[in-house]
Amino acid sequence: MRDHRVEAEGVDLEFNQSSGQGSEKIKQFAGKMLASGDPGADARLQRTLQIVTRVRALAADGDKGAFERPPASPVDNKYYGAAPFLFGDDRVMKFRAAPVARSCAAPDVADPDYLRTALIKRLKHQTVVFDFAIQVRTVNQLNVATDIENTSTEWDDDFVTVARITIPAQNFNSAEQREKCERLFFTPWHGIAAHAPLGGINRLRKAVYEASARHRSLPKEPTAIE
Ligand code: HEM
Repeated sequence: MRDHRVEAEGVDLEFNQSSGQGSEKIKQFAGKMLASGDPGADARLQRTLQIVTRVRALAADGDKGAFERPPASPVDNKYYGAAPFLFGDDRVMKFRAAPVARSCAAPDVADPDYLRTALIKRLKHQTVVFDFAIQVRTVNQLNVATDIENTSTEWDDDFVTVARITIPAQNFNSAEQREKCERLFFTPWHGIAAHAPLGGINRLRKAVYEASARHRSLPKEPTAIE
């Protein structure tokens, strides 16, 4: 017990140094977990503190993988496919899309809909460009259990840019566009066989996205006014 408290306070001090915030909450959280009498509490607390420390360290470092600062708009952060896809007959890939010109402005979180507002402003007069990059592995470089079936395994291969995605300036916030959007069907399975989705998460997504599309195309529930 005592060791964990010391460790909890170690993390706490680290937090004080980097941001001066959050320390009290972590102390309270650790105290509650240890006082709960739950036999698994020690192990869970250790794991939680490890994750918190890692996320804070990566966020403090700025630009590492999925742990990014909150973006000013939806086109100011990188997007990772996370799950792998086939890349021809004997290779597989993971992909990401990264903005070419990224705003480092702080997000205007006072607006509860700030991501939408920021995107409307940004696309009003500007074209937005993303680099589309892939990491590629050959079949004999792969461990199926970790590299394909476990999406939390990070691949350390270099990303190679293979395409650009250009989003033209536009007003996507009209009633007509919103309605059109509702009629779109999003799924990673809409692609050619040579780039078929791989792994359990992608297999799961197939059924879930089909069900979501079916659900969205159903007539809306009538309200009292209708
Ligand atoms: C590699 C993991 C995943 C990635 C990269 C991913 C990415 C995305 C993206 C980009 C969208 C479209 C968002 C939009 O329209 O603005 C989406 C929609 C969605 N995702 Fe995922 N997703 C992943 C895993 C999952 C899983 C595991 C589930 C559930 C089991 C799930 C459920 C959904 C649902 C229900 C939608 C809404 C679909 C619709 O518009 O009809 N996703 N996802």
